[in-house]
Amino acid sequence: MSDKIELGKAKRLKGEIIPPPDKSISHRAVILSSLANGKSRIKNFLMAEDTMSTLNAFKKLGVEIEEVRSQSPSATRRGGKSEVSPPTHPSPSRGEGKGGGELIIHSKGLHGLKEPEDIIDCGNSGTTIRLLSGILSGNPFLSILSGDDSLRKRPMGRVIKPLSLMGAGVFARDDDRYPPIAIKGKKLKAIRYEMPVASAQVKSAILLAGLYADGETEVIEPMKSRDHTERMMPSYGAELTVEGLGIKIKGGCELKACDMVVPGDFSSAAFFIIAALLVPDSEILIKNVGINPTRTGLLEVLKKAGTDIELINVRDVSGEQVADIHCRGTIGLRGMNITKEHIPALIDEFPILCIAATQANGITSIRGAEELRVKESDRIRAMVEGLRKMGVEVEEFNDGLNIKGPAKLKGAAIESFGDHRIAMAFSVAALLAHGKTTIKGISAVNISFPGFYNMLKMLTKN
Ligand code: S3P
Repeated sequence: MSDKIELGKAKRLKGEIIPPPDKSISHRAVILSSLANGKSRIKNFLMAEDTMSTLNAFKKLGVEIEEVRSQSPSATRRGGKSEVSPPTHPSPSRGEGKGGGELIIHSKGLHGLKEPEDIIDCGNSGTTIRLLSGILSGNPFLSILSGDDSLRKRPMGRVIKPLSLMGAGVFARDDDRYPPIAIKGKKLKAIRYEMPVASAQVKSAILLAGLYADGETEVIEPMKSRDHTERMMPSYGAELTVEGLGIKIKGGCELKACDMVVPGDFSSAAFFIIAALLVPDSEILIKNVGINPTRTGLLEVLKKAGTDIELINVRDVSGEQVADIHCRGTIGLRGMNITKEHIPALIDEFPILCIAATQANGITSIRGAEELRVKESDRIRAMVEGLRKMGVEVEEFNDGLNIKGPAKLKGAAIESFGDHRIAMAFSVAALLAHGKTTIKGISAVNISFPGFYNMLKMLTKN
């Protein structure tokens, strides 16, 4: 089956959607439930490629995980009957992601994991490989973690360094830089670690290793990154305190099973938020979206740029704030100035923010974002290349770019570089362009958002 899609200009987007469950929270729910003694139930777990990598890893480590049922991300026409149900859209070659499911996890606790018989394949998932490295550092057996071509190019020194300071036996290819990672778990000692980069994955790896360490481990971030790990850990019985940018965790206490519900993913919703703002005459209600402030920097930036996005029905779900997001087509978006302090809270929204910038009046500048060079693809390069093909004036810097708007987009052949967020961002750009746009490598969307094209098709139906 062909791994590309051709999309054209959309007249408007209308309807209600429920985005897929949050990817970061789904990873952490499987991880913590697999380490917490007893039976945990996770509702609305993301059944997509990345989170299945984590789920399969824990199965290989001997944890019993039941997949009770799965549903799909859904969309309905406003004022009409439900039209879209299970994603029938082909998931070309990337497997079987299905949206939200329910898991029951039976765990023997922190010390109940067993040595895997083979290499653990983390697929495309940086969260899986880095968080698992933290856990396996404290488990007395050999494990080897690897992944796909993209993951094997991503920097691992950032987790190997602090884990080695804790006493772990962790090694990687090219002088401890890149996967595969080989870990011989040991008795760990607590450390106080000031992180050089703001990274929730590194922070979480250290906190998870801290569960196995003697004494109290402290990690200090340079800027606040997503805080799902520290929000969730106490519900499983971990002794953890947060003070400003510092987090302390006590080693040696047993975790206990916990039930939780995963909210919808703001990062997936973001593609439709921007699509609704940019396609004239659109109106979309996006229901059940997590609005944790460490994730919603995009909303702050868009507000400053003059958009009118309404959060309604704000509520609490398993310790995370959730809302329905109402967005409408907006005219007169202003250029944006995004600097280093903004980046952690909108790190995954960079590709779609670049698409918004093409329609804003004036220059949008995004700087201090060099981390984007080491994501699933080099996202600065991928966006510069695709935007230029669509006729946008762009200036590239090592740590970001300038985009000149408003631009008249023209249809082009775009490469996703196997990166889910690049594929989805340019699919939204295609809705604004004159002529047809072909996006290659769309199976990547199954990493975080199976059913993305189904939802888009449904909302653009006139
Ligand atoms: C994630 C953290 C972020 C983010 C990634 C998911 C997580 O990465 O970009 O998509 O679940 O912890 P970094 O921690 O490397 O910034």
